[in-house]
Amino acid sequence: EKAGYKHFMLKEIYEQPRTITDTITGFLSQENKELYEKIKDIQIIHIVACGTSYHAGLVGKFWIEKFAKIPVIVDYASEYRYRDLVIDDKTLVIAISQSGETADTRFAVLEAKKKGAKLLSIVNVVGSSLSRESDYVLYTYCGPEIGVAATKTFTAQLITLLLFSLKSALSKNLISEKYFEDFYHDLIKLPSIIERELKDIDKKTEDIAFKYHNAKDFLFLGRGLNYPIALEGALKLKEISYIHAEGYPAGEMKHGPIALIDENMPVVSIIPKDNLYEKMLSNIQEVKARKGKVISLITKGNKEVIEISDDFIEIEETNENLYPILTAIPLQLLAYHIATILGKDVDQPRNLAKTVTVE
Ligand code: M6R
Repeated sequence: EKAGYKHFMLKEIYEQPRTITDTITGFLSQENKELYEKIKDIQIIHIVACGTSYHAGLVGKFWIEKFAKIPVIVDYASEYRYRDLVIDDKTLVIAISQSGETADTRFAVLEAKKKGAKLLSIVNVVGSSLSRESDYVLYTYCGPEIGVAATKTFTAQLITLLLFSLKSALSKNLISEKYFEDFYHDLIKLPSIIERELKDIDKKTEDIAFKYHNAKDFLFLGRGLNYPIALEGALKLKEISYIHAEGYPAGEMKHGPIALIDENMPVVSIIPKDNLYEKMLSNIQEVKARKGKVISLITKGNKEVIEISDDFIEIEETNENLYPILTAIPLQLLAYHIATILGKDVDQPRNLAKTVTVE
């Protein structure tokens, strides 16, 4: 059932070219007329989720605000539930959950629904509680995810949020059909890019894992769309390797965390060629100046970053809005290799359950 892979997690990482394709196709086969009609009078979106699904929500915020021009707040379900929520019928709540059974998420959004919000859920498990409790449902088409660490469902959540934001923009006449098609053209290339690169990235991250698996702490830095990917990279590493890791928006480093940097601190920096590239570059230079070990995730052949990095992982160039989907995968593999080198049970990490159905 592991199809020749050593662990479910690795198998699921390798399934991503297919699950991304299936999620794009599945998304486009659903019309969801009512949802895109309703979106025209939505004034604010609340995204509510836990763990990895919460990180997908943070990326989704960028896309929804950029394309659909609707303000978005993203909250941990366990916090959202106990706030004084300001909600009316022009509020759309989006619950993101692989399982559709996470108690924190379900009960938080049911509360919002009671107060009059419309509820959209993005779930992987067909027929799950959340899917039945929601006004609208968008599925990620991943099949079962067995590894406790969410991998393929994360990239599928990203795809779904991106397509949702573009479809909403179309329905509000904020973008043209032509714009959507050009975007789709870039998006549909991702699975073959990933397919082509996976083996190399697997090898490269394994080498890096051998070099750094004894580190006590890791920092993950990113900006903009890749800031949530830094958080996700840190979460993956924590949950399966039990190494302390933190994700940070790189620009925030100088406000405190930079004090942590010394020659023992590996700093994984997500720095593709996007609109924040120059900013990110100067942040990495600050890390280097304090002798941190810089592991960069770069767009292929970027010599400028290679020169200041101790190690680097290359990804292919793409539409800059799509980088989070490509940058997430090497970080899954890096966590996987560090954890297996340390002899941890990656599919069943201690203290964790795949689905948390208690508060
Ligand atoms: O099923 P859900 O997406 O609602 O689960 C949410 C979190 O419990 C989950 O993402 C958790 O953080 C994973 N173990 C992360 O890999």
